[in-house]
Amino acid sequence: MDILTKRPRGTEDKLPKEIYKWHTVEKIAADTAEAYGCKEIRTPTFEHTELFQRGVGSTTDVVQKEMYTFDDKKGRSITLKPEGTAGVVRAAIENGLFNDALPLKTYYFTRCFRYEAPQSGRLREFNQFGVEVFGAPSAASDAEVIALANDVINRLGVKNISLEINSIGCPTCREEYHKALIEYYGKYKDKLCDTCLERLEKNPMRLLDCKSEICGSLKSDAPKMLDYLCDECKEHFESVKRRLDALEIAYTVNPLIVRGLDYYTNTVFEFISNEIGSQGAVCAGGRYNGLVEEIGGSPLAGLGFAMGLERIIMVMDNQKLDFAQEKGCDLYIASFDEETNIYAMTLAKKLRSQGFWVEFDTAGRSFKAQMKYANKINATYCMVIGSDELANGSAKLKRMSDGEELPVKLDDGFANRLNTLIMDISL
Ligand code: HAM
Repeated sequence: MDILTKRPRGTEDKLPKEIYKWHTVEKIAADTAEAYGCKEIRTPTFEHTELFQRGVGSTTDVVQKEMYTFDDKKGRSITLKPEGTAGVVRAAIENGLFNDALPLKTYYFTRCFRYEAPQSGRLREFNQFGVEVFGAPSAASDAEVIALANDVINRLGVKNISLEINSIGCPTCREEYHKALIEYYGKYKDKLCDTCLERLEKNPMRLLDCKSEICGSLKSDAPKMLDYLCDECKEHFESVKRRLDALEIAYTVNPLIVRGLDYYTNTVFEFISNEIGSQGAVCAGGRYNGLVEEIGGSPLAGLGFAMGLERIIMVMDNQKLDFAQEKGCDLYIASFDEETNIYAMTLAKKLRSQGFWVEFDTAGRSFKAQMKYANKINATYCMVIGSDELANGSAKLKRMSDGEELPVKLDDGFANRLNTLIMDISL
């Protein structure tokens, strides 16, 4: 295998011919987030490793097994971000964003890196669209954040996505729950897998997420967090459900959702597709009321979600949904020699400054090859500039869809004429 021409396992190239899909999804996601008052935030691709150990949690799979961690030249431990939330919290604390008007509502697009076993829908480098909201402790905000994710999915036209929600309570009620889990699983210590045995003491809720056959079979009878919620957490969850009902957002309560990252409190949720195989979670998130303090800020409620863009695009492809096709090239100007090519170049410059997508020959191709290229790039119009056209100050615009030719003057009114012709076609 030639390592120079093979991408690393678990990575993907997003090729020019497919990129319109990404543009469609990114635009709809950003527009929807902005309609909810979110502003974009961009944080570094790598952070100090300690941020994820503290934020995501040192007993999680992500931190224990999946991080791309290395020492920089000064010996500092650096990690490529495995998820977007911790970086946003760090940036908000460092830049004093929590001193401004609250709630602070942010959205982001980020690449994430996790050393997982690659399979369909599971990559080592993948892209997330995420939303993080701070300073909004009320259940209204949980419903709002879920509604935002739901809106993005609907606006993309994606169907057959189910929403599952759960509450994993606050640290106080979870303490009792942990005791109940330790007692329940303690009875099966000789059957548990090694990972679960280790987690039983440190992070017993993670046992509910174990995919091994034996541990998996034990979870249906395991105690459920919903039975251990304190009054406040119970009322919060009830209010989230009432609000989702009011918004007519369908959901099921799945008491087994515990999430793979440690920062969650109260509401957790996942949007799931059953059309793309075992990696069906297209979007997931929840509340994390302790995270800001954990990372070094003053206590502040937070919540959010992240949508896996590769997965949502897989579902869209599978459902054969229309992505907004990017507009084609408006005009290709064919030329014959140095003089006509320079004219084509100056005309292209002028038209581009007025917003047209214009191309001309930069590859030194024959006239025939230029016309072939104009076809390939889907040019709406093509115009040939030869010495006659230069001398007369006029040319013919060829409509590529039907070959119809229209005489045009190459004067100051040309851009307006071209604009009208393009508008006519798009009507
Ligand atoms: P997460 O569940 O780890 O949560 O990831 C969110 C989404 O990213 C998943 O539902 C999935 O669509 C996508 N995803 C995760 N891992 C992979 C992978 N290896 N390959 C492809 N797609 C993947 C978080 O990352 C949290 N930060 C979400 C959040 C934001 N919670 C609160 N705010």
